[in-house]
Order: sequence, then structure tokens, then C-alpha cells
Amino acid sequence: MSHRLQAEGLAFSYEAGRAVFTRVDATVRSGEVTGIVGPNGSGKSTLLRVLCGLLTPQHGQVLLDGRPLASFRSTERARTLAFLPQSVDPAFALTVFEVVCLGRYPHVGSWAGLRAQDRDVARRCMCDTETEQLASRDFLTLSGGERQRVLLASILAQEPDLLLLDEPTSSLDIHHQIEIFALLRRLASSGFGVAVVTHDLNLAARYCDRLLLLSTEAESVLAEGRPGEVLTEGLLSRAYAARILVSQHPITRTLLITADDPGREPEAVP
Ligand SMILES: Nc1ncnc2c1ncn2[C@@H]1O[C@H](COP(=O)(O)OP(=O)(O)OP(=O)(O)O)[C@@H](O)[C@H]1O
Ligand SMILES: [Mg+2]
Repeated sequence: MSHRLQAEGLAFSYEAGRAVFTRVDATVRSGEVTGIVGPNGSGKSTLLRVLCGLLTPQHGQVLLDGRPLASFRSTERARTLAFLPQSVDPAFALTVFEVVCLGRYPHVGSWAGLRAQDRDVARRCMCDTETEQLASRDFLTLSGGERQRVLLASILAQEPDLLLLDEPTSSLDIHHQIEIFALLRRLASSGFGVAVVTHDLNLAARYCDRLLLLSTEAESVLAEGRPGEVLTEGLLSRAYAARILVSQHPITRTLLITADDPGREPEAVP
């Protein structure tokens, strides 16, 4: 089923007089990967938390398929959208397989145990994230990147239609970064909607259909559109307060984004 999560005119402050943003619009649609990029502190995690209903905006609203998000029952909402936070500190020891199976909670009655089909879904999601060999390990003993992939498997096991992911590849090596972004791309092609916060502008350029660029200066989204429209030297240099160079990768032909050394003299234009 096709879904649309739409935020209109969002304003959010943690403390009175210090707004994170005052008028942000954002849309997450089935079939698309939407990247949310911007510097530290620009409000990416806050926006994702408002979009999934964990934070309530002071102004504006979030609609899921035209209905206010707050009007959905929690299990109904959890079957439609899943949120992967930027960091998770599990309070008790569980095996990796148990952590992934926790993702099945919206599909299992309160007093019912896991069914064979729930375990099958968990195993499939572990294959997708290359975590199946970790199944019997204690989650707390995993490396940062292994934990991140297991948590993603758990979110996928929830089988939501819309995925809201906060920096899912920040601790991953180059092989797993590309595997996860390629997986997100495949999920979108098969009908999922994905919103992903990332600091990796090159992966965002290559795998996202649309981007939202936030900045600490602007009170709304600084730019929104296709990667080529948003990832320009002018917009990025403004957002990151740094000299950003945008070129084309000679092999992949996707945009190649680099921050210039602040001490380097720009070449004289002939
Ligand atoms: N719980 C909180 N209480 C008060 N201020 C907060 C809280 N969480 C975040 N902030 C502030 O809100 C602003 C936006 O934070 P947010 O975490 O959304 O940024 P971000 O874009 O996700 O940054 P990063 O790239 O570092 O993850 C920052 O100035 C941050 O210090
Ligand atoms: Mg963040």
C-alpha cells in the first residue's frame, strides 16, 4: 500500500526562545529515498523525531495518509512506520536474534509468542543486513557497526511501509555503507518509503531520490529537491560554512562532494 507522511509548517523548540526550526515542510513517500542532510545541530534528528511522533511540534502538523499522526493507535502506527534512532543503549542483555525479533512486536499479540513466520522474517532481515552469523552473540558485546546493522535488521523485521532512519551507516565500513544504501534503494523500488539522515553527501547523491538540506542559520529547510539541485557548491558552502567542491566522479558519474582545505588558495581563474 502506498503511503505519504507529510509535515507542514513545523516549528519545534526544546527550550522557549531557542527554536530548532520554525517552519519546516517535509514529505516521505512510498517508492522514494529522501535524504536529510545538514551540519551538526541543524535539526535532522529533531525533524525525524517529530515526523515519527516522538516529539510534538509547537506549530504545524504531521499527517500520515492525510490523518494526523497522533490519531493512530500505537500498533497501527508501528506497522506503518519505524524509526531507527541515532544511538541506542539497550538496558538489558539479549542475543542478536532476540533483538531482531523485538521488531516483530506490532505483529504479535501481547500474550502470544513468536510464530515460525516471525522467526523467518527476522532471519530474512538478518540476511539483508549481513548479520545472520551474529545471531547467537550477546548484543552488548558487538562492535559499533555490528550493533548498527542488527538494529537496522530489527527495524526491518517490524515490516513497516515507511522507514525513518537516523544515520544508519555512521559506524559502518565502506563495504557495509554501500550495501545498506543499496538495500534502502531496493526497498524503495519495491514500494517502501525511506527517510534517511546522513552526513555522507556522496552516498546521499548516489542513492537518494530527493534531499532536504537543513542549516543552523535558516529557520526552514535551506533547500529541497533532487540531489543535483540541492548539492551545489553555493548551497553546501552556505549550509556548512566551509568551501565545498562539487565535481563528477570519473567512474560512477555521480556527484563527488569534498570539503576544501581551509588553508588552500583557490586556483586563479584563467
Ligand atoms: N533534548 C534536547 N534538549 C535541548 N536541546 C536539544 C535536545 N536535543 C537536541 N537539542 C538541540 O537542538 C538542536 C538540533 O539538534 P539535533 O540533534 O536535531 O541536530 P542534528 O542535525 O541531528 O545534529 P547531528 O548531526 O550532530 O546529529 C541542537 O542545537 C541541539 O543542541
Ligand atoms: Mg542527529
